[in-house]
Amino acid sequence: MTQTEKISKYSELLPQIEALVSGVKYGISSLANVAAAVHRTINFFWTGFYVVDGENLLLGPFQGDPACITIPKGRGVCGTAWLKGETVVVEDVEKFPGHIACSSLSKSEIVVPVFSKSGRITAVLDIDSDSLATFDETDKLYLEKIAACLKEYERY
Ligand code: SME
Repeated sequence: MTQTEKISKYSELLPQIEALVSGVKYGISSLANVAAAVHRTINFFWTGFYVVDGENLLLGPFQGDPACITIPKGRGVCGTAWLKGETVVVEDVEKFPGHIACSSLSKSEIVVPVFSKSGRITAVLDIDSDSLATFDETDKLYLEKIAACLKEYERY
């Protein structure tokens, strides 16, 4: 996919996501719809959420193959993004120390923290690709905008 195609897909996706989550009280429903919309639009290998539960992340709504259920804070790409409070882009998962392999087909990954209005991290958006170096600054920019659509929820 070219940069132009990528930007065009994300630009169409963003207002759809804003509409999907607008006025939805049950946060898990929004996570499910956002995962489905992102996955369908960009055709990633795995798209989903892990939600914060104490000192762990727990598997939330996702699209793709079954995945590991619990990720401690600071572990794997997801736990690292949560601990650091920032997006982590991994070009080659085999080179990321402590990467948690839910599928041998996953080659690159991006994990974006989801912040609530009060600034608490409530979840992370995790996307896996079956190609190396799929994610760049454009993905980071738009996926952070998508995560910001979920700021109304303080917990899941
Ligand atoms: N690879 C992730 C684990 C979750 S799966 O990719 C769905 C990690 O290292 O945190």
